[in-house]
Amino acid sequence: MRAAVVTRFGGPEVFALSELPDPEPGPGQIAIDVSHAAVGLIDVFIRQGDYRDRPGLPQPPYVPGLEVAGTVRALGAGVDDVRVGEPVVTLSGTGPAGGYAEVEVVDARLAVSLAGAGVDPALAVAALPNATTAHLALTEVAHLRAGERLLVHGALGGLASAFPGVARTLGAGAVVGTVRRPSLSKARAAGFPYDDVVAAEDVAALETRFDIVVDPVGGQVRTDSLEVMAPLGRMLLVGNASGDWPHTVSTNALWYANLGLLGFNVGAYLAARPERGRPAAVAALAALRQGLVPIRTETLPLAEAGEAHRRLVAGGVGGRILLTP
Ligand SMILES: NC(=O)c1ccc[n+]([C@@H]2O[C@H](COP(=O)([O-])OP(=O)(O)OC[C@H]3O[C@@H](n4cnc5c(N)ncnc54)[C@H](OP(=O)(O)O)[C@@H]3O)[C@@H](O)[C@H]2O)c1
Repeated sequence: MRAAVVTRFGGPEVFALSELPDPEPGPGQIAIDVSHAAVGLIDVFIRQGDYRDRPGLPQPPYVPGLEVAGTVRALGAGVDDVRVGEPVVTLSGTGPAGGYAEVEVVDARLAVSLAGAGVDPALAVAALPNATTAHLALTEVAHLRAGERLLVHGALGGLASAFPGVARTLGAGAVVGTVRRPSLSKARAAGFPYDDVVAAEDVAALETRFDIVVDPVGGQVRTDSLEVMAPLGRMLLVGNASGDWPHTVSTNALWYANLGLLGFNVGAYLAARPERGRPAAVAALAALRQGLVPIRTETLPLAEAGEAHRRLVAGGVGGRILLTP
């Protein structure tokens, strides 16, 4: 099979399109003929070597890519709940690497059938893993109750933009997004079900009080959010797109104001509890079917994996980049 291989830690030029042996599924696994592989910011961080010392993450040479759509090619021993030829999409807990390829092998428990789902595979891989993350974060971590108000930072991002639609299906009240000021008009026109989108720079001045803050951005907006949280408000810490790694939040501010900060990392969660993935994904599919996660996709050939990473880092993609073998 052909695969886009990260040959060493470094810039987007470290990719090489290589011919590798077709992987075979082991017990409990399936092999997938990949039609679309999603490109995420996390792939960039891993390629740069930002997580080089973290256990379980790959060392070069490796094939990146956490989420794919495609059809089942072969079943490993003990797999009897999907069939060869079935259209599937994978969730982000299947392992650290492998999707930028013609064939990927994954844990069968984290493959979700698209048979009869009425959802296009490109939309499914662009939106369903993140929508599943949103569903798990809102239900199992933040324990969203009907009518609660949400504030979602980096509102157009791949992960963030799945939250308003999923929150709607769970009965949330108002959902407000934030973006950096230059992106305001684009965000308001993007079609995601936000009640309003405001500038991240103005968060501390908002009059509304929010029960749940979703923060994949980090940095100053994380601290500013503490000013606009309702008593017993919960902030979901789900990323650091700002790249502001040294930023810290005062723990004293939390007990003064009855606030909770909750971390959620879907990869580590599903690696530990893989059985939680499919039910959450099936629930999250409802949001996709209802058109509540209208994420734009842009498709590049596998050979342009480096270019895909360049575009992601340059910003302003406003959707998801997919690679097709
Ligand atoms: N917890 C989890 O399980 C999980 C799952 C998936 C992703 N993540 C994490 O979530 C974060 C976002 O990932 P993604 O795949 O959604 O990336 P993405 O699609 O590139 O979205 C990042 C968003 O953040 C915005 N942004 C970047 N820097 C910013 C800044 N300084 N201030 C305000 N907004 C800023 C970007 O806006 P522009 O369009 O202007 O660039 C973009 O809308 C990453 O840290 C990733 O590792 C976590």
